[in-house]
Amino acid sequence: MARNWAEFWDRPNSVYVGERHLAAHFQVIADELIDALGGRGDLRVLDYGCGEALESGRVAAKAAKLYLCDAAPTLRARLAAKYAGEPRIEVVAPESLDALPEGSVDLVFASSVVQYLDRALLDWFLGAARRLLAADGRLIVTDIIPPDNRIVDDVRALLSFAWRHGFFMAALASLVATFFSDYRRMRAQAGLAAYDDATFVEILRDAGLAGERAPRNRGENPYRRTFVARRAA
Ligand SMILES: C[S@@+](CC[C@H](N)C(=O)[O-])C[C@H]1O[C@@H](n2cnc3c(N)ncnc32)[C@H](O)[C@@H]1O
Repeated sequence: MARNWAEFWDRPNSVYVGERHLAAHFQVIADELIDALGGRGDLRVLDYGCGEALESGRVAAKAAKLYLCDAAPTLRARLAAKYAGEPRIEVVAPESLDALPEGSVDLVFASSVVQYLDRALLDWFLGAARRLLAADGRLIVTDIIPPDNRIVDDVRALLSFAWRHGFFMAALASLVATFFSDYRRMRAQAGLAAYDDATFVEILRDAGLAGERAPRNRGENPYRRTFVARRAA
């Protein structure tokens, strides 16, 4: 069993129901990222906690630069090999972010990561994001779990996504598997960070960022929340 979330994500896991879920999920995440670029091809992007990032080639084609950053070393090695032929994509470790120049990123996108960070890691990440953001840059963090999150909402979100993307029966079966999985044990042991809106805005402010909740969550789960922030004046 993994000792922490970083270890958990560096191993094969059963979070995604199968190839179809994985493909549909990363298609949606890439679509969200491209939408956030707003048609500007000159933006430099940091995808923090990028995971398998299956469609980053499509994102990079719409951006000036795409840094893929993840704590999982095995995953990073896989990404580096996959995107070796993409000059606009660079795979970096979180600790290497310190080496990037201040103000050198226009969009920091952290999709479904904050729930796996303890408070010290979250503060470190927000500090790094603030330093990297250009004066008019944006930080987008998605999938913030509200404290009153109900497991039934996560189940409903998964089944509805699965229905729309044609893997409903597989998703039902996977819910049973998840009940016996490492993910459930890790969730019980390490927990998932949850924040209400006011607390998260305050955490952003303490990190020197002015942020607010977006009208909808970007990604698969409409019961979670997205926040958008900029460097505070
Ligand atoms: C649920 S996945 C999200 C992947 C992708 N961003 C998405 O939206 O599908 C969480 C990812 O966060 C990464 N992660 C966990 N802790 C991290 C940390 N401290 N710094 C950077 N990445 C981290 C994991 O390795 C994993 O790839």
